[in-house]
Amino acid sequence: MVIVLVANLAGCQSLPPADRIPPTLDPAKAAALSPDIVSRGAKLYSLKCARCHKFYNPADYGDAEWHGWMTRMSKKAHLESDEREILVRYLDAFRSEERALEH
Ligand code: HEC
Repeated sequence: MVIVLVANLAGCQSLPPADRIPPTLDPAKAAALSPDIVSRGAKLYSLKCARCHKFYNPADYGDAEWHGWMTRMSKKAHLESDEREILVRYLDAFRSEERALEH
């Protein structure tokens, strides 16, 4: 109860734990990244982004729109530059997955 109240005060959604974990990245795309980036990216999302909301699939956004959100949300999440770099690479893999399927 206390946790729910604190989350609401911060203007954040209270999410069931399963919604805090990003979906599994397609193995073919995960293979293009180091396992370290994949696990750290997923952890960063759960800790820094899902603190406020569910996983928004990067593949659902156009390039400019996505990069605009990442700029804005990196500030909201107070990411260090190395954290931001890991998260950008991890989340971009979801985007390339979708584009690869279109061809
Ligand atoms: C402090 C709370 C907070 C944090 C932390 C946060 N967000 Fe957000 N996010 C929001 C809010 C609130 C919105 C709704 C749009 C707005 O008001 O900016 C949003 C919107 C978004 C959207 C657009 C959703 C749509 O409507 O299509 C994306 C994508 C997104 N966030 C990604 C992220 C990512 C990635 C991170 C981690 C780096 C992150 N957010 C961290 C609060 C947060």
